[in-house]
This record gives sequence, structure tokens and C-alpha cells, in this order.
Amino acid sequence: MDLLLDIEQRIGESLRAFTDLLFVMDKHGAILDSRVNASTINADSLAQIHNGNIQDLLPSEMGDKLNNLPSPYQGSNNINFEFPLTLDKRELWFDARLVEISNSKFVLSARDITKFKQIEKRMGQQLHRLSVLRSIDFAIASGLDLNLLLSILLDRVLETLQVDAATILLLDTKMDELVFASGKGFRTNILQHTRLKVGQGYAGRAVLERKVIDIANLSSFGTEFDRSPMFPSEKFIVYYGIPLITKGRVLGVLEIFNRSHLHPDKDWLDFMNVISGQTAIAIDSAMMYKELQRSNFELNLAYNATIDAWSRTLDLRDHNAEGHTQRVADIALKFAAITGFKDADLIHVQRGATLHDIGKVAIPDNILFKPGPLNQDEWEIMRQHPQYAVDLLSPIKYLERAMEIPHWHHEKWDGSGYPDRLGGEEIPFSARLFALADVYDALTSNRPYRRAWSGEEANQYIQRQSGKHFDPKLVPEFLNLIRSNGF
Ligand code: C2E
Ligand code: SIN
Ligand code: SIN
Ligand code: FE
Repeated sequence: MDLLLDIEQRIGESLRAFTDLLFVMDKHGAILDSRVNASTINADSLAQIHNGNIQDLLPSEMGDKLNNLPSPYQGSNNINFEFPLTLDKRELWFDARLVEISNSKFVLSARDITKFKQIEKRMGQQLHRLSVLRSIDFAIASGLDLNLLLSILLDRVLETLQVDAATILLLDTKMDELVFASGKGFRTNILQHTRLKVGQGYAGRAVLERKVIDIANLSSFGTEFDRSPMFPSEKFIVYYGIPLITKGRVLGVLEIFNRSHLHPDKDWLDFMNVISGQTAIAIDSAMMYKELQRSNFELNLAYNATIDAWSRTLDLRDHNAEGHTQRVADIALKFAAITGFKDADLIHVQRGATLHDIGKVAIPDNILFKPGPLNQDEWEIMRQHPQYAVDLLSPIKYLERAMEIPHWHHEKWDGSGYPDRLGGEEIPFSARLFALADVYDALTSNRPYRRAWSGEEANQYIQRQSGKHFDPKLVPEFLNLIRSNGF
């Protein structure tokens, strides 16, 4: 006691106020005196320590560390370290400082930082869980396929909740049935064929009652999994069935399985609820995305029908040109495909080709159906038809990329065409390839102003116009296509 009193005087009141453990040791680590100042520590449990050695108290690697200090603690009169101490089955953490007070005596003063350590651990966990939620948000936002999304979600559930297995069952509202959608962590594939009526089984009950079904000991009594003969081989003990609810609708159930008992704290349960909510949102948005794609598809169908209707109206007006639009569109599309257009762009070629002469709706009958050559004034008006098409269609956003053909199908490679007198590669590629299809089909069709040419005549004309009207690189390819397809 004298010793300690002496020391306490040295280290002063203030240090004492911040000290929970105080040991006095000799240079071999033998504890000569100890004092417990912390309400967290039971003094009795420290009684055994007195007359022991500091090495026995510290985790072995730490004891070794102290032991390895030069002559034992010589020259190092200021060592700081943190150490855990298991007392009464509780793990306590201390922040310690070792001070040499004479050449044969040392003081180890330590603060109880258990609470701080717990908070630190909890914050680390919460931070990790937050990052998991963010990664799920990201997966949702990226419009992933539903199955992939569910698989990612289940990985996160297993990792973050530290459980052995999980499934997602989706509610088929037409059948009023829960159907297995995704599972992770199973040794067998027993649950992959799960189909449960609403109200049936734990999962069915979670849906019906819209609440978490929580079975703490699956092995203790007959469970609702008994009808699945292989279920016991999975050796699950704990079950959670969490209804996946968003916007008031139940979309399915997240099932969690563990092979050992769980001791969930509030954070764990909160996170389980948050990640379930997130899963519900993910499923909802993935389904909406699919729905959106489908309605886009339907919208496209509606657009295409409208375009077809317009172009047929145009053909109807000019009996001589009947079928021209459709034929030209077919040839142009085939030609675009072999000249390397990407599939995604072909739709624009098709729409553009179908609408190429839509501007002719603004050309008066007496010009359009004139049985002879046009005079200069009439030509002036006829040459407006590409611009009319632009005026007519440019407000329609989804035709933006299809406009090249209606706008520039009468431009010529040598720059003598209309409306903009573009030349060579200034003319968009789609318009260059379309011009070949248009002229070929016009020449081989009857017109009010002349009879149809033979295929051979049209062929020779196109060859002669290579480098004048037409892109010379495209001409041979086009004539090949005509030959092999017998257009
Ligand atoms: P379209 O009848 O569909 O002809 C499209 C394009 O094919 C023409 O564009 C032209 O490049 C070519 N083409 C068609 N028929 C002949 C032809 O007999 N000889 C030659 N060398 N090329 C031909 P273009 O010339 O800019 O004419 C645009 C539209 O103007 C034609 O569309 C047609 O509707 C009208 N058109 C052209 N020439 C006459 C004409 O002499 N009389 C009348 N009534 N309309 C004409
Ligand atoms: C099963 O028996 O296979 C599933 C039961 C449940 O999910 O509640
Ligand atoms: C029309 O002229 O009425 C449409 C057919 C064509 O492109 O010539
Ligand atoms: Fe035209």
C-alpha cells in the first residue's frame, strides 16, 4: 500500500481520475500492487491478479511484446497500447500506458475503453451496412434484370446479416401463390420448387398476416417444412420470413435460414427490415422496368402502324406508285443490313424509307399526276417535297434519326441534287444507299409520265450514274443485291 500511495502522489489526482486499472510491477512483470477504480469491473474478479504476472493477464501476444522489450521495460518509460481482458465472460478493452517510475518498478495505468470499442465496432458495422444499401441502390438504378438483381441482393443479405442461407419467393397475384425466384447458401435444391398458396407455410403466413414470421428453433418441433423430406439435411435452426412490401402491395417474401442460433440485436433486426424494404423496391422497379420496356414495344408498334398508314395513304393517292413505298423500304433495309448498319439503326432506315416521299402529300394533283414532263415552275414545286417532309415530321421526336432519308434522298454524289446540293460523303450514308433503291424501283415502275423500264435498262442506267448520281462504292454492291434477290 505504501508503494501505491507513493506512486499516486507522483502521478497526481488528475491521472487517477482518468485511470480505471492501476498495476505496479517489478521489472519482470510481477504485479506488486493493483487498484481497480472502475465501476464496470468487479473488484473480486481482479483479486486473483494480485501477486500474478502481467503476462498472464494480457493476451499472449501482448505479454510477449512487453516481455521482449529491452531489459525488460528499460528505457521505454512511455509505452501506450490497447489490450482486451476477459473478465466474468465479458470482453473488456483497455487503453494502457506503461510508465517506469524507478529502475526496478513500473506502473501500468489503464482506462476502460470497452464502450468506445463497442461503439467503434457498431459504427463500422453500420457503415458497412450503409455501403451495402448504397450498392443495392446502384443495382436497382442500373435497371438490371430481375434475376440478377435478386441474386445480388441475396449475396448482400448473407454477407451483411451473417446468415447461412436465404431465398426470395415472389407472389404470383393471379395464382395467389408464392413461387421460388432465387436462393443462396443451400446444400440441396429442396426449396427451388417451392410453390405456396398465400396463408400456407411460414412464408405464406408472412404474406397473409403482413408480418415477419420468426422461428427460433426449427429443430425442436414439427415445422411447416416437414413436408419437404430433404429439409432436415440442411440442418437449419433459425427461420425468418419477411414479407416484401412496397407501396402497400406484397410482392413476395424474403426467407432467412441459419444453421446455428442467432442472437439478433436491434441493429441486426433494423437492418433486416431495411434490406427487406430495399428488396421490395428492387423487385418493384425491376418489374416496372420490364413493364416499361413492354409498353415501349407497344408504343413502337403503334408508331410503326401510323407510319405505315401515312405511307399507304400516299400510295393510294398515286395508283401508279402503288406498292412502291413498301418495295423501296424492303430493298433499302436489305441493302442497309449488308452494308453494315447496326441492327439498332435499321429501324431508322425502315422508318425513313417508308416515309421518304411523305412530302408529296403537299404536291398538287396536277403536278404529281401530270402525264408528261414537268415545266420549270412545276419542278420548283416538286423539288420542295423533301423540305415538306422535314416540315411535317421534324416535330416528331422519335423520327429524328429517320429524317435523313426523307430529307436527302434526292441529293446526288456529284453535288447536283436537291434540296441542299450536298456532295459525296456530305450526304448521310442512309440517304446515299436509299437513293439507289428509290431510283431503281421508280425506273422499273410505271409512272404517269412514262412506262416502266426493264430491269436490265435500269441496271445500266444505275451503272452509268455511278459517281454522278450515286456513291460509286455502293453501286456494285447494290447491283449484286438486285441480282441475287431478283427485285
Ligand atoms: P419518282 O417517280 O418516285 O422518282 C424518283 C427518282 O427516280 C427521280 O427523282 C429520278 O431520280 C429517278 N427517276 C424516276 N423516273 C425517271 C426517269 O424516267 N428517268 C430518269 N433518268 N430518272 C428517273 P427526281 O427526278 O428528283 O424526281 C422526283 C419526283 O418528281 C419523282 O418521283 C416524280 O414523282 C416526279 N417527277 C419526276 N419527273 C417527272 C415527270 O417528267 N413528270 C411528272 N409528272 N413527274 C415527274
Ligand atoms: C417448404 O416447405 O418447402 C417451404 C415452406 C415455407 O417456405 O414456409
Ligand atoms: C407517291 O408518289 O404517291 C408515293 C410513291 C412514291 O414514292 O413515288
Ligand atoms: Fe422523292
